[in-house]
Amino acid sequence: MPTLKSLLLLLCVLLHCGSSAALSGKFWHITDLHWDPTYDPNDQPERVCASSGQRPADNAGEFGDYVCDAPWTLINSTLYAMKNILPEPDFIVWTGDDTPHVANEDLGEEAVLYIVSNLTNIINQVFPNTTVYSALGNHDYHPKNQHPSGPNYIYDQIAQMWEGWMQTKSLETFKKGGYYTEKLLNQEGVRVLVLNTNLHYSQNKQTQNMADPVGQFNWADQVLSEAGNNKERVYIIGHIPPGFFEKKRSMAWFTAAFNKRYLELIQKHHSVIAGQFFGHHHTDSFRMFYNSAGSPISAMFLSPGVSPWKTTLPGVVDGANNPGIRIFEYDPQTLLVKDVVTYYLNLTQANKAQAHWEQEYRLTESFKVADASPGSMHQVLESMANNPSYLQKYYEFNSVNYDLTECDSDCRIDHVCAAREVDFDAYEHCLEKEGAASLRAALLPVLTVACVLCLLS
Ligand SMILES: *[C@@H]1O[C@H](CO)[C@@H](O)[C@H](O)[C@H]1NC(C)=O
Ligand SMILES: *[C@@H]1O[C@H](CO)[C@@H](O)[C@H](O)[C@H]1NC(C)=O
Ligand SMILES: *[C@@H]1O[C@H](CO)[C@@H](O)[C@H](O)[C@H]1NC(C)=O
Ligand SMILES: *[C@@H]1O[C@H](CO)[C@@H](O)[C@H](O)[C@H]1NC(C)=O
Ligand SMILES: [Zn+2]
Ligand SMILES: [Zn+2]
Repeated sequence: MPTLKSLLLLLCVLLHCGSSAALSGKFWHITDLHWDPTYDPNDQPERVCASSGQRPADNAGEFGDYVCDAPWTLINSTLYAMKNILPEPDFIVWTGDDTPHVANEDLGEEAVLYIVSNLTNIINQVFPNTTVYSALGNHDYHPKNQHPSGPNYIYDQIAQMWEGWMQTKSLETFKKGGYYTEKLLNQEGVRVLVLNTNLHYSQNKQTQNMADPVGQFNWADQVLSEAGNNKERVYIIGHIPPGFFEKKRSMAWFTAAFNKRYLELIQKHHSVIAGQFFGHHHTDSFRMFYNSAGSPISAMFLSPGVSPWKTTLPGVVDGANNPGIRIFEYDPQTLLVKDVVTYYLNLTQANKAQAHWEQEYRLTESFKVADASPGSMHQVLESMANNPSYLQKYYEFNSVNYDLTECDSDCRIDHVCAAREVDFDAYEHCLEKEGAASLRAALLPVLTVACVLCLLS
């Protein structure tokens, strides 16, 4: 007769209890807050907020409207929800875009700085003892997107606002080019690399003809080489991601040369990079990086925005989102991303009743993967590429439960190829390949019937 104790022991071995004594930490990632100080729900629909660009805000309420950027009530609600859900994160990642989508003439240097400063203040008030790793967005400059390849008034002023979050050396490089690196929470063996990828944006006229604005790629290459020598693990943080926008076919942000350069950086240094955290899309998605043998080597997490603002990008249909925020669960020693938990506010519901932030989904549960490692994220991608129910689930999460329509075959191709291929040529090739595959799938029943008919005749 086996004793109860030996049975339990056996159970324990089978379940791997204690074998993975991995440590667990958590941090918040928030992005694209886009505060619109003009928001007034009591005005006429076309005039509720400047960021609607005169589109009528027909459902304007206390917490916002889907055609508007975030009112202060939504910003405030977001920060207090974070405080309520996870009051003591190890740190916060904040990936920029603070100002509203309005014409340059309606902002100006001082307005941009005022907005960045108010958001910085509320984060500091709600999380006074938490380090924030903060990247500049393309909207955090005046004129927007035109971040210079060198020191300027705005980098300088923002460096002063974020002084409490950065080490001295980080402040120096930030003032010079809007980027920095330091040990994560001042601990040995772990590091953050905060990039200013706005310098690589094709809309940035300041940097268009430069090979390497402020030498940022060279610098990042050196930082990552040294990190490798020192056996460190690194998180990369930035605003504009390389690759393509999954909601608009063939829409990329970086110039071709910068896109290539970024990809090369990751391929060269993937063994020290434990995760990449970006924003800008306002949607919830991810990007895969592979080696030449096709094995997954890195994953980039694109976190959803706080602003619900419906994009005006031509060709995107109904591109708004519910406000989303997320917690990454990770191993503080290896920086392995263990899970991703996204919380959201149903904006319609919030305006009707009250702001109730709730868990939207937990990655490992919803996609049945072990963690959020590159291998697991590759599995998530394969599930959505090959299984319609996973695709639909991913698609609903993509807009944070705003757009619950069906993701059709073109939609599948756009999302799968954007997630799979950051490289421009490989992406176009993926479109062709997946297009042919869905054509075959669509034609199969027709061909089968034709074939049966032909055999019968
Ligand atoms: C911010 O949110 C907190 C918590 O919900 C609330 O008590 C406070 O009144 C809000 N402040 C503003 C300015 O909305
Ligand atoms: C923004 O900051 C200014 C200056 O500190 C302050 O007067 C104002 O009340 C802030 N606005 C909000 C909505 O917190
Ligand atoms: C922040 O740290 C200070 C000094 O250690 C402490 O007095 C204060 O209570 C802390 N605040 C919070 C909100 O944890
Ligand atoms: C959001 O709230 C509205 C209004 O209560 C409701 O109709 C809708 O189904 C909710 N959306 C989700 C995804 O739960
Ligand atoms: Zn944005
Ligand atoms: Zn952006």
